[in-house]
Amino acid sequence: LVAGVDSSTQSTKIVVCDAETGAVVRTARAPHPDGTEVHPDRWWDAFEQASSGGILDGVAAVAVGGQQHGMVALDETDAVVRDALLWNDTRSAQAAGDLTDELGGPSAWVDAVGLVLVPSFTVTKLRWLAQHEPENAARVARVVLPHDWLTGRILQQGNGFEQWTTDRGDASGTGYWSAATGDYRPDLLERAFGRDLAVPRVLQPYEAAGHTSDGMLVAAGTGDNMGAALGLTLHPGDVVVSLGTSGTVFTPHRSAIRDETGAIAGFADATGHHLPLMCTLNAARVLTAAASMLGVDLAELDRLALQASPGAGGLSLLPYLDGERTPDLPDATGTLSGLTRSNSAPENLARAAVEGMLCNLVAGVDALRAHDVAVDRVLLIGGAAASRAVREIAPGLFRAPVVVPAPAEYVGVGAARQAAWALSGEQDPPTWSLDVDSEYAVAAGDAEAHAAVVARYQDLLGRTHGGA
Ligand code: XUL
Repeated sequence: LVAGVDSSTQSTKIVVCDAETGAVVRTARAPHPDGTEVHPDRWWDAFEQASSGGILDGVAAVAVGGQQHGMVALDETDAVVRDALLWNDTRSAQAAGDLTDELGGPSAWVDAVGLVLVPSFTVTKLRWLAQHEPENAARVARVVLPHDWLTGRILQQGNGFEQWTTDRGDASGTGYWSAATGDYRPDLLERAFGRDLAVPRVLQPYEAAGHTSDGMLVAAGTGDNMGAALGLTLHPGDVVVSLGTSGTVFTPHRSAIRDETGAIAGFADATGHHLPLMCTLNAARVLTAAASMLGVDLAELDRLALQASPGAGGLSLLPYLDGERTPDLPDATGTLSGLTRSNSAPENLARAAVEGMLCNLVAGVDALRAHDVAVDRVLLIGGAAASRAVREIAPGLFRAPVVVPAPAEYVGVGAARQAAWALSGEQDPPTWSLDVDSEYAVAAGDAEAHAAVVARYQDLLGRTHGGA
């Protein structure tokens, strides 16, 4: 048996799989506190709570998939200096702008590390810390990511800790490691923080971070999106749209994609290749917010949305409820536009919420197309992929057939697959297969109506945010 841990923004999930087939044998979960900063000990508490029922009994290898980018600052003794600032914390927006200008603009950062800086990336959080909390900053000796920290903690607890480690996938979201060259950029880290810091060793995808004293292998682990990509056993032409706390659009790719617009981040994946990815701050929670505005539950929101026609009677929603990352509008708020007395029905509002959430991600699918990525099918995962309205409306907006994999914790499954890989000692990950739950084609005659929905959304974005 092998286990994958998904330490995400809102919870920790543990998935135990058969190492040969990948079949899920058992799962457990425990919640995290909500918010954009959290003490890493809460991740450990959740891990202990989720594993307390003996879920790891008989497990030969484990790996952690974690929320990307979070800044875990450690002192000389490896104690946590302050709460970790998470990927969805936008307080470092000014720092992102300053660092961009200092290096010579967005293209200089794309050249250096494959990223146009936004406040999510770790390097911007280090600049914020140096500027705003000099006393805390003075104590920092090392910076690691959420999955690095939890991996180290598991090894410390199991008396097997030797050194801090990370993997290519998660390192590629820091802003001081380049997926194109496979090297750290200590000069950029120093530019952001004002001095040198220790960073974790970047392991190969199949390398172990260590073993606990009772012999359990702890694999390298990775970022959550890289974990999901590994769990979904993706092929060329597969584009994943993940609708969780964040919305992400990504695809496995042999070479690094260079996108100066910043829509696509040039991340590495967990197999030694690349994972070009677009990320938004507003996905599943847009539906929860719309349901609460209408005073209904998610099932009723679905029913209402499917009763309205494409275009929601002329309503458009820019869903920037938590500010936005792509487009880079950290201070944006949501906009509902086109409201008249004749279209102000709950059905239209529900449909506008689903369409707005999806239109925000259409930009990611189209940005991949602009880089000559084939979009043969969209794999829809994450909490909001359970919505029938989302499943039925998505193919028309994405202009591609949509496949919904059988419900599973794909980040956890991917981490478990990495653990099985490290255990096998092979050069390639084990061949696991994907169960498909249902498929949705682009409905005939839908194309025009949906193209008009996307065009009106983009026009609204242009008018309210200057074409961001
Ligand atoms: C990706 C990103 C998010 C987090 C969510 O760049 O910031 O998807 O990884 O956990």
